[in-house]
Amino acid sequence: MTQTIAVIRGDGIGPEIMDATLQVLDALKLGLQYDFVEAGLAAYEKQGELLPAATLEAIHRHRVALKSPLTTPVGEGFSSINVELRKRFDLYANVRPAISFPNTKSRYENIDLITVRENTEGAYIGEGQNLTADGETATLTQKVTRRGSERIVRYAFDLARRVGRKKVTVVHKANILKSTSGLFLKVARQVAAEYPDIQCNEMIVDNTCMQLVMKPEQFDVIVTTNLFGDIISDLCAGLVGGLGLAPGANIGTEAAIFEAVHGSAPDIAGKGIANPVALLLGAVQMLEHLGKVEEAGRLRKAIVDTMQAKDNLTPDLGGTGTTQSFAQAIAARAAG
Ligand code: NAI
Ligand code: MG
Repeated sequence: MTQTIAVIRGDGIGPEIMDATLQVLDALKLGLQYDFVEAGLAAYEKQGELLPAATLEAIHRHRVALKSPLTTPVGEGFSSINVELRKRFDLYANVRPAISFPNTKSRYENIDLITVRENTEGAYIGEGQNLTADGETATLTQKVTRRGSERIVRYAFDLARRVGRKKVTVVHKANILKSTSGLFLKVARQVAAEYPDIQCNEMIVDNTCMQLVMKPEQFDVIVTTNLFGDIISDLCAGLVGGLGLAPGANIGTEAAIFEAVHGSAPDIAGKGIANPVALLLGAVQMLEHLGKVEEAGRLRKAIVDTMQAKDNLTPDLGGTGTTQSFAQAIAARAAG
């Protein structure tokens, strides 16, 4: 059966890295069909809307989207498109692998971990944001539910099983945040008991940050709540060479959106030097999600081999290649 995916070329460097990524995907000869739809500044300029109904409809219909970074215009009345997409499709799992690649400027060589971040609850529900009239006191509501905790922890353990991981670390702050983090930890323990084949350990979030910097090799899969996951996953991206190499998947029951973690990089847009690897790794996650595991592995290997050979690396990786030439080098290897 032919698989169609919604493709959002995005803003800034978005179109450049998306064209490069699709060129590599085409080299894999998967027979994927692309339904190009717009969002972000590109959509706003052409259609007067940041997130047109046709775009939402396409994501809903195809259930899978590959998305370049979007620019949310700064100013009143513009809420983040990414947050909006998460809400619309209840994309509760944010899955961010951090894997060491050859020839990066990273300090570590043996990192292979996946952060699974709860994407819809916690401190990011946008409720109860209050500043007193005198400007002296600010408050905010956090919400953690049994259902939300259970499904994210279950997702992490199922993922661990599916991809042959051995250990899940539950990251929390239940000693202080007794209600919210407390409930998350309690539910995590109950879910973990159903997976005797996967080792489960618990770690308090501040210690986790130190451990990640001191001894990142000890981690396999990390599962945590929204705010901690946001911070930890960026920390992990930094451990393996930064944003140019960090992909992310946003997964819900109705749809899944795959992307690079970085933004639209207006400082280098149009120069043809953006690194396409983060979005390509998002495509690897997408292929795994689509059950095309062999092809996903082939694509990942092509990326690693190209980096190993220092073949047309982009300037952020210390090379003199372009988005296009780097992608061509990867495509040649992916084609076999
Ligand atoms: P950014 O990630 O776009 O850029 C930060 C720095 O990293 C810049 O120096 C940039 O040149 C560099 N960089 C990023 N991606 C790169 C790549 N693929 N290759 C080489 N260098 C790369 O973050 P910034 O500047 O804070 O945000 C710019 C815009 O992106 C904003 O409008 C923001 O709202 C949007 N944004 C969108 C996201 C999304 O759609 N998922 C995520 C983050 C930001
Ligand atoms: Mg973040």
